[in-house]
Amino acid sequence: MSQYTSFYKFISEEQREHPFSSGKLTGLLLEVLSACKKIAFLTGQGQLASQAMGTAGTENVQGEQQKKLDILSNELFIESTQWCGYLAGMASEEMDHSLPVPDIYPRGNYLITFDPLDGSSNIDINVSVGTIFSILELTEGVGKPGDEDFLQAGVKQVCAGYCLYGTSTMLVLTTGRGVNGFTLDPGTGDFYLTMPDIKIPEETSEFAINTSYSRHWEPPVKRYIDECLAGEEGPLKKNYNMRWVASMVADVHRLLCRGGIFMYPMDANMVAKGVSGKLRLLYEANPMSFIVEQAGGVASTGSERIMEIQPSELHQRVPVIMGSKVEVERVVGYHQNS
Ligand code: AHG
Ligand code: MN
Ligand code: MN
Repeated sequence: MSQYTSFYKFISEEQREHPFSSGKLTGLLLEVLSACKKIAFLTGQGQLASQAMGTAGTENVQGEQQKKLDILSNELFIESTQWCGYLAGMASEEMDHSLPVPDIYPRGNYLITFDPLDGSSNIDINVSVGTIFSILELTEGVGKPGDEDFLQAGVKQVCAGYCLYGTSTMLVLTTGRGVNGFTLDPGTGDFYLTMPDIKIPEETSEFAINTSYSRHWEPPVKRYIDECLAGEEGPLKKNYNMRWVASMVADVHRLLCRGGIFMYPMDANMVAKGVSGKLRLLYEANPMSFIVEQAGGVASTGSERIMEIQPSELHQRVPVIMGSKVEVERVVGYHQNS
């Protein structure tokens, strides 16, 4: 592994470039990494971790069936990070309300929001899942944070990342100075910089959307996908490929590696049900938007930049269209003209 820079060396060098840096974000990230390694180990055990497999028989606040691994990952994440002294509180997709750091531990200035296990419907079939997180600062003067303290627009994130539990375990991270990817060496337990300064190609010929909802799509999305499917003979004059893993982490990781557009847009069925999207703003859309934008891509709902949305509730959902600049701007343009 010596040809690669370890995560610790990388983040320490970044810290040294900022003379006023306190090292607190580094300290917090190391504990987040330790949580991700434990979740990676647990997911990697698959059926062997029989106590972790199957449904928990409970629903989260969004009415989704929880898997035992959703709950275990959530607990692992909390246990690994709450004591470190850098966090004031945390909010998770799997908890009804935010959790202030318990009084027995020192409280710091950072807030973390996370999706402990993204794509958990893929666990039973041994397909990639991941953990997504976003780090915010607690407003000065607030001691013990409540739900309202987490309602910050994505532009206020100081750091966002995800850990992909795929064929290898990878951490992808931004602190607002580009995006870097690290691979876990399962032998040493260290992450190494294997994808420095990730940039999403501006143009793409690959799209990711769940086409089983096509009958519900709004005209701008239908128009774009129809044009992709028309290939070389159509107005976009090139053939497109399609992928849908159904783990946002894996689908977004692919577009960071080789370009693409990922969409979980608004549709007529959501309008009828009175829901504002599928993906969660604070745990999925904002952190992934920060990463995508830092890698030169674009992230929009179709009508506005995701990171500029002022959240009104913890578990708010939003439509998501993100990825290669030219393609996302094309879809946004179709929304403007419709
Ligand atoms: P989670 O497992 O955290 O609930 O997230 C699943 C999300 C996202 O990862 C993925 O893109 C999407 O749901 C898949 O939804 P469909 O099953 O509707 O395709
Ligand atoms: Mn998710
Ligand atoms: Mn989840």
